Amino acid sequence: MNKREKTIVTLPGDGIGSIVLEEALRVLDRAGFSANYVEGDIGWEYWRREGNPLPERTISLLEKHRIGLFGAITSKPKEEAAAELDPALQEKGLVYSSPIVGLRQHFNLDICIRPCRTYKGNPLNFIRRGRDGKIEEPEIDVVIFRQNTEGLYGGVEWSNPPDLVYRALASHPKFVKNFGNTPREELSVSTRIFTRKATERILRAAFDYAKKYGYRSVTVCEKPNVIRETSGMMYAMARQLQASDYPGIELWNTNIDAQMMWLTKNPETYGVIVAGNMFGDIVSDGFAGLIGGLGFACSANLGEGIALFEPTHGSAPKYAGYPVSIVNPVAMIESACMMLDHLGEEQTAGRIRQAIAAVIQEGKVRTYDMMKLPGSSDVSKKGAASTRQITDAIIQHL
Ligand code: IPM
Ligand code: MN
Repeated sequence: MNKREKTIVTLPGDGIGSIVLEEALRVLDRAGFSANYVEGDIGWEYWRREGNPLPERTISLLEKHRIGLFGAITSKPKEEAAAELDPALQEKGLVYSSPIVGLRQHFNLDICIRPCRTYKGNPLNFIRRGRDGKIEEPEIDVVIFRQNTEGLYGGVEWSNPPDLVYRALASHPKFVKNFGNTPREELSVSTRIFTRKATERILRAAFDYAKKYGYRSVTVCEKPNVIRETSGMMYAMARQLQASDYPGIELWNTNIDAQMMWLTKNPETYGVIVAGNMFGDIVSDGFAGLIGGLGFACSANLGEGIALFEPTHGSAPKYAGYPVSIVNPVAMIESACMMLDHLGEEQTAGRIRQAIAAVIQEGKVRTYDMMKLPGSSDVSKKGAASTRQITDAIIQHL
């Protein structure tokens, strides 16, 4: 172990997580980036064996090293998860919750950045018919800033709410009017709490990024016309901030529903987009779909003095057991590039991104998704590259 080097906590997680993570590490290494890596236990295996998908020792590792590279995680609904517990752990009232959401909460990784940029020559790029009937392929360069800890992900929720909560709700005239006649046992409540502090942090992060990288606009994508308190607060704060600190950047305001419609009309119009947790989750999948889907979607989760990088795809369990893996590692490698940027290794990150772009543009080495094939173990016979082959091609271009 080299003392001067940064130590990075690798968190392969479930399914294809470990496969794509290994490839990303290979690219980092071949690009000349070196670090110490320590692996953290996380995911389904630990849920089944220990009743906790995010063991305390993993938290400690991150606490110590402050930087993580995460693969993917399997999540299942409450009952299904409980049924898979080790028999010795059953009936103990253990409740499964997503360890990635847990990490975001525990370390207050409140800023999530999700860039969605078109790779030229990607057969999965969104196309549309233009005014003259010609096919257009808009170039998308959107960076989504998702508030990562609050809102609907805050975990403050009840079914059959307890007395105190019920009484508090009943003090609101709208509650009395709309829900007053519903028996309490028939109520489920999930709260959407925004704080000024976290809202300001995500807004500032978005504006600072737009300023630093020369984006013309920041779009607040919420629903302030209906969700007046939370969305309303975010938009009002954005207006103030823009006026006082970012006069050179335009502030736009879209509603999440309309934004999803405009996705296919004018996605190239948008630059930086900022949203609360749930709408940020939605809009980032929406834009990812235009640039090739989750195989291309990377992300950073940033807190104060701590960062965790992850592809936004899941663990794709059905592809995990293939003797030769076919999944697309680009999202994971791109997430590793975001980590390099964060560590001040922008040049190395840039070289890797160029290599990915070259492989995609050449079009000789393509994973099954890029060939629009259904995923199956015989895609190589149809000319699809394996996970390893496309990684090799990227490495060759470095
Ligand atoms: C994401 C995912 C997660 C989320 C899931 C896996 C809990 O969809 O990172 O976007 O909802 O945040
Ligand atoms: Mn998501």
